[in-house]
Amino acid sequence: MPAKTAKYIRIFDTTLRDGEQTPGVSLTFEDKIEIARQLSLLGVDTIEAGFPASSDGERKVIKEIAKAGLGTEICGLARANRNDIDAAIECDVDAVHVFIPTSPVQMKYAVNLTPEQVVSATVESVEYVKKHGLICEFSPMDATRSELPFLKQVCQAAEKAGMDRLNVPDTVGIMIPRTMNKLIEDIKTVVTVPISIHCHDDFGMAVANSLAAVEAGATQVHCTINGLGERAGNASLEEVVMALHMIYKLKTGVNTRLLYSTSRMVATLTGISVQANKAIVGENAFAHESGIHTRGVTVKPLTFEPIKPEVVGRTRKLVAGKLAGTRGIKAELEEIGIHPSEEQLKEIVQRVKDLGDKGKLVTDADLLALTSAVMGEVIAEEKVVDLCDLAVVTGIKVIPTASVRLVLDGKEYIAAETGVGPVDAVLKAIQKLTHNLAKIRLKEYRLEAITGGSNAVAEVVIKVEDEKGHIVSARAAREDIVMASVEAMINGINKCLIKSRKLGNKK
Ligand code: KIV
Ligand code: ZN
Repeated sequence: MPAKTAKYIRIFDTTLRDGEQTPGVSLTFEDKIEIARQLSLLGVDTIEAGFPASSDGERKVIKEIAKAGLGTEICGLARANRNDIDAAIECDVDAVHVFIPTSPVQMKYAVNLTPEQVVSATVESVEYVKKHGLICEFSPMDATRSELPFLKQVCQAAEKAGMDRLNVPDTVGIMIPRTMNKLIEDIKTVVTVPISIHCHDDFGMAVANSLAAVEAGATQVHCTINGLGERAGNASLEEVVMALHMIYKLKTGVNTRLLYSTSRMVATLTGISVQANKAIVGENAFAHESGIHTRGVTVKPLTFEPIKPEVVGRTRKLVAGKLAGTRGIKAELEEIGIHPSEEQLKEIVQRVKDLGDKGKLVTDADLLALTSAVMGEVIAEEKVVDLCDLAVVTGIKVIPTASVRLVLDGKEYIAAETGVGPVDAVLKAIQKLTHNLAKIRLKEYRLEAITGGSNAVAEVVIKVEDEKGHIVSARAAREDIVMASVEAMINGINKCLIKSRKLGNKK
């Protein structure tokens, strides 16, 4: 280990900012709060909660995260101008991450500024943040394509103006470990503040480059859960952290046992699923198929397992199955920071056993999906809408038709609808009945088969929107796609109705 490597590496999580810039991702207010809470439990040092100047909605959620008392540094991103910095200050964040391009191509074509203007905007912005008593992290954007003498000049000017940390972005991911190592060494000759690294994965080297920066003396790494982020994404937090702990023997504040549940939560809420063979959190990361491997790991796990699965909140393969008891499932969930109530635990165990009875292998992903569905359900006493009965018909020469019997505010109603398929028909029938209570519409519907096979557990995540534009998300997990869809829809409608009634809008 090079002598310049620090013992503790800060983890700056940007899932809610760069991660949310992943094409196709748009998180609701509730999603962002849920993820921020989880990141704080996970133990990251900084949560970059968003880009305050981008919209009113963004400011609202960043403010909420900042006042949630998470005990984690909350940061807002700002371009190097007063408006953006004021927007971040307005959110009561602890730190402002100021950025400005320093490469010739971006200075000219992205912001149309001369190098002199870039230096003066840097100095003014850093001074302005410090004048307001906040932590200032500064990023010369596209640092890795900037001319080194100019990059050094900007960094020195930012340090003189009072920046607390210097972040070095490899904005378009063009570095390799050797060039990254050299660049950090060069920058270290002109600045004394802690150095941070922010790598993109365009050539699949974000994690390797981040580690090379640490070897050269960087003491903070920007990362995202599941490696989400612009284009090919950012350095994946779970990979960076595990490599730092296990290969480099360095410390971070991350509780690695929560890595898998955090990854699942982010995959579910963003709708960006994790590839099966992804390190640490992919479905196959702890699965063994060939005879030699399975025999080896059964006798001595170290034969084919460089990481103990439980260290990252995983199990080797099935644990929860037909024979799993309440205590075993409770312990397994508690180990990864999930604490269901007694009622919820009973329901989770029941669902696991139901699957086991059908001869299905219950993987850790199945268990987590079932658990988050049960825990996210609206509890019985609060339900405004409940399902009594349901029938669907579908076939080659049959128009898919569904009939549902629901209890709405204590009274029973029946409706039937047709659709392009059984799920469409049943969701339309439910909406037909609940339309009189509130005009709630389905905004987004996502279906994921957790594990392979036609008997896979299907996880359905929906977003519904009420007349006032409030969006809530809900989920359900069952082996039956129609049932999972119905449960998720009814959960979403209940959440929406309960929320608006609590706000005093009783219909
Ligand atoms: O990739 C990048 O350069 C960024 C900056 C805002 C730091 O995300
Ligand atoms: Zn970035």
